Parts: sequence; structure tokens; C-alpha cells
Amino acid sequence: MIIFMCGIIGFTGNKPVKNILINGLEQLEYRGYDSAGIAVLDENGINIRKRTGKVAQLREAAMDLNEEAYCGIGHTRWATHGGVTNVNAHPHKSGRVVLIHNGIIENYRELITEYGLKNKLVSETDTEVVAALLDTLYSGDPIKTIRKAVDLISGSFALCIMFEDHPGIIYAVRNVSPMVAASFDGSSIIASDITAIIPYTKRYFVVPEYHILTIDKGSIKCEDLNGNTVEPEILEVNWDISSAQKGGYPYFMLKEIYEQPDALDRTVRPRVENGLPYLEEDGISDSLFKGIKNITVIACGTAMHAGMVGKYVFENKLRIPVNVEIASEFRYKDPIIDKDTLTIVLSQSGETIDTLEALRLAKRKGSPVLSIVNVKGSTIARESDYVLYTHAGPEIAVASTKAYTVQIAAMYLIACRFGLVKGIMSEEEAREFISKLENVRTLIEETLKSANTIKMVANRIMISPDVFYIGRGIDYTLSLEASLKLKEISYIHSEAYAAGELKHGTIALISENVPVIAIATEKNVYSKVISNVKEVKSRGAYVVLVSHDDKIDDTSICDMQIRLPEADSTFSVFATAVVLQLIAYYTSDAKGLDVDKPRNLAKSVTVE
Ligand code: F6R
Repeated sequence: MIIFMCGIIGFTGNKPVKNILINGLEQLEYRGYDSAGIAVLDENGINIRKRTGKVAQLREAAMDLNEEAYCGIGHTRWATHGGVTNVNAHPHKSGRVVLIHNGIIENYRELITEYGLKNKLVSETDTEVVAALLDTLYSGDPIKTIRKAVDLISGSFALCIMFEDHPGIIYAVRNVSPMVAASFDGSSIIASDITAIIPYTKRYFVVPEYHILTIDKGSIKCEDLNGNTVEPEILEVNWDISSAQKGGYPYFMLKEIYEQPDALDRTVRPRVENGLPYLEEDGISDSLFKGIKNITVIACGTAMHAGMVGKYVFENKLRIPVNVEIASEFRYKDPIIDKDTLTIVLSQSGETIDTLEALRLAKRKGSPVLSIVNVKGSTIARESDYVLYTHAGPEIAVASTKAYTVQIAAMYLIACRFGLVKGIMSEEEAREFISKLENVRTLIEETLKSANTIKMVANRIMISPDVFYIGRGIDYTLSLEASLKLKEISYIHSEAYAAGELKHGTIALISENVPVIAIATEKNVYSKVISNVKEVKSRGAYVVLVSHDDKIDDTSICDMQIRLPEADSTFSVFATAVVLQLIAYYTSDAKGLDVDKPRNLAKSVTVE
């Protein structure tokens, strides 16, 4: 399995390029952080610096680089294809060509053989093969050469290319792997996402697939593979650079946890009219819901966990069957869906390749696709029939937090509108539902006051090799997400169990001092969860109870308690999520780890 997700940036214009590239790479570091490199191009040729480690190390290595170069490309790498070495880091140069790449070249072996490239290669990467291929094909006309190469390579790619004899110009082309570009004040910029562009301009466009960009100072030409000029649609970012900075918080993750009340407001309030959900402005008309008999939710990881919460509401409140599917499984199935199934796709980035491929399959099966996406203009958004954008703002920490809660809120808005259209929910019930949804901000703010208690829990569990989360119903779905969050940023082994399932095997793992975090917000199963808690407590577990209870002094129930503000469990999920996110955050921080950049992970998973 080849995994390759990287940050890329290119700049040409009227400012020295070195620091623009390095600063941009710092913004993009969350996409990959094994190694980083830049190449600058001026009349004297191409100069490259690359280093394993963080961008800070590259900054050092680039100290001696020409400050007077005005055109260049840069890359942060996250790779398992070819070890983490200076040689394998990008940019890769072959003859007159230098390039950076995000994606996978699937037929690189065939290309090496067919075009006799072996002697040109010094690294173990598929990327260098493209550089060698371009140099072999190069006739002095970059566009013609790129066209030929694109015809020969298969796989996913976002490529930024410079030719030594064309100073001041960057060429770019992509398939699947995302890229956005913009021109402003005599300069032009291209990057794998808008966080690197936003310090310069809010207006950008998504690079169309299989189109070649000629990026010159202050102008960008976009043409299809037949040479026809195309004018891409200009989009505008609705957040500013401060949203992509830490703003005084030690880590983005903590900032993003605290941003949740605002993110929820921005996602919910514009979609409420007279106390009822209103989705027409998003292009989602009631007719979409009329013939729908069931729902399939497709997503990966945290987004899928948000889908599970949505399922709970659809099924319990509306009695509409919902199937939640792991995108990477769904895409290789022959799924039982048709035009009567509404497919809801959840994705923060809008670029997750498994989710995208699953979406395409659902469409081929005739199912209308409504996606819930955070990144405007992303591939998933563009390929869906309907889009409900979440307005979380940029999520930089690799571990998803605010994107998860806004995805749940978006699912709730859809469920409520759906219920109204189908006559399953009365206007009065819908008004009450929406008013509770609008009030979750208060629940979260109240919960954030428990940060110190949560820190104490984190200090206790940071020394444990294993942590278990248990809950029933909606709390079980939260346990799954809590467990994922903890393991991905603290590297502590963790599992989530439906509380009633423990006694069917897993309870054998419970021994003296093993932490069990029990979530008990559902009234109808509360006493059942408490019975399960007592089962683990009597076997020596260290129990943390997350519930609405008043203070519990009974040590036969729990060792620590985190109290949630009183609310119906459907709406408590937002507050509970915050508690669980903070447990993971403080545990990782207490262990001295880099919370925002956990090992082996990258923010946007653009390969399968
Ligand atoms: C975990 C996390 C991932 C993502 C998953 C899907 O904290 O962030 O599990 O939720 O990779 O990503 P998107 O939502 O961008 O499709």
C-alpha cells in the first residue's frame, strides 16, 4: 500500500519567493511532516534545498539560498513510498525539469522500463520518475511535454513543474489530488489548499482536473488537454488568516475545540427561519426528500462517527432506516441502493479518496447524493448532487473536533427538514428540536468549565497502556469517536464497546486500575449502563463516569465524575463530544506529544 499525502505550494511574482514558500509550507505542514523542500528558479537556473524533519529544519538549510529569486515551488512530505530521507524529499530534479507532487503514480515501474529512465533516478520515489519522464520528453515546449506525460501516467497527481529554460513560470496539472490557485497584485500562487493562499488573497479557484495551468506573475492561463482556454470559477473564502493561526492557544486542536460554539452557530443559524429548518438557499428543496425510503451514510473515521449519531436521530425520531457505511468498504461492494435511497456523504476536507469513490458508486446506482462538506469547492462538494456546507472554518489539527460536531448539527438539520416534509414531525416538534439545537452552544460553554477536572482524568490515564470507553445507544457512537481520538493523538491503545457487550468477552481484559470511561446520558438505558459500570468497577477498573448525575460519592460506581449540563441525550452529544475531545487532548499534551501532528497521520487522506 502506498500512501502519500503532502502539502504543495508554488509562487511567482514581484516578491522574493524563498520565505513565501517556507511560510506557506509551515501553514501546510499539517498535511505532511516527514520532510520538506523548496526549489527556486531564476536566470541562473534551479536551486534546491530539502531536509527530513520539520519545516523549521528546512528554513535553516535554506539560509544561504538566493533572496533575489521570485519564482519557486515547495513541498512538505508524508510518505511511506521511499523512506524518509533527504534524497526522497521533494522537489525532484531531472535534467531541465524540477517538480513537486502529491499523489501516487501507479505505473511508475512501467514508465521506467519503457522510457529507459533507470539511470536518471537517484531516489526511491515514483515522483522522480515523472521528472525524468518529462525531461526525456522535453522538446522546449512545456505544455506539449506535459500533455504527453499526462497521457502516459496513471494514478492520482497534483504536479507543480518548473523548466529551467522558462524562468518565472510554474506549470501545474492534477488528477484527483487537490490544488487551488490565485492571482493577485502582480503575483500568482498555487497550493494544495487555501490555508497557504489566504495570507495573500481570499479569491481563488479550484484547479480543474486534467487542465494545464501556466502560472506567470499576476496571471494564470488554464487550458484543457486540447489547448482550449478555460475560465475557472472564482470562489471566495469566508474566513480570514487568523482562523488558520493558533490565536494564543498552544495547539490548533485546543483552539478548534473551543471554537465549537461559534462553528455550530455559523452552521445552524443561517438555516433556520421562523424556528424551522430551511435548506432551499443551499439548493436542497423539499422535493429531494419526498420519494426517499431509506438513507445510506458514507464517510471515514470521525466523519463516519458523526454519521452514526445522525443515524440515531433519523431512526429514533423519524423511523427512517439508515445504513452507515465505511467508505473504503462500500466502494468495493455491490451496494443495495437505488433512487429511493438518499446517500449522505460526510467529509471535512471533501477530498478523502475512499469517500469520493464511494460517492461516485452511489451516483452510478442512481441514488441522489447530498454531501456535508467543510471545504468549499472540494471534489466531493463538486461531484455531489446537493451540498450542505458546514461552516467550521479551517480545521488544521489532524485530529478532527469542530468538523465532527458541525457534521452532527448538519445531519440534525437535514433530519428535521426531512421529518417535516414527510409529515413525521409536526411544526411544533420541529420548532422544539431546532430550538434545542440552537441552544447547544450554551451546553458546550458550560461544559468547557470542567476543563480542570478533565485534565485530572487525563493525568490519570496518560500512564495506562489501555483505556476502554463504554456506552449504550447514542453514547456508544460517542465512545467510538472518543476512542479514536485518544489513540490517534496519545498513542494509548483504546477500545470502545457497547456497554452490554463487555461481558461477552472483553471484560476479561479488565483488571486492577484499567481506566474505563463510561458515558451515560441516555435516560432509558441509564440504569443498564450503571450496572455495566459496577461490573467493571468490581473487577478493579478505574472508572470515569460522564453523565448528567448530581455529584456521586459512591466509589462502587466511579472514581471520577464529569458532569454534563442537563439536556436530552440527542443534544447532550455536543457537550459529551467536547469532554471526550478534551480528555484526548490533555492526555496527549501531558505525554509531551505534538498534539496537532500525530505520528503516521495526515489531515487529508487523498489516496486509498
Ligand atoms: C480523525 C480524523 C479522520 C477523518 C477522516 C475523514 O480525527 O480526522 O478520521 O475524520 O480521515 O476525513 P474527511 O472528513 O476529511 O473526509
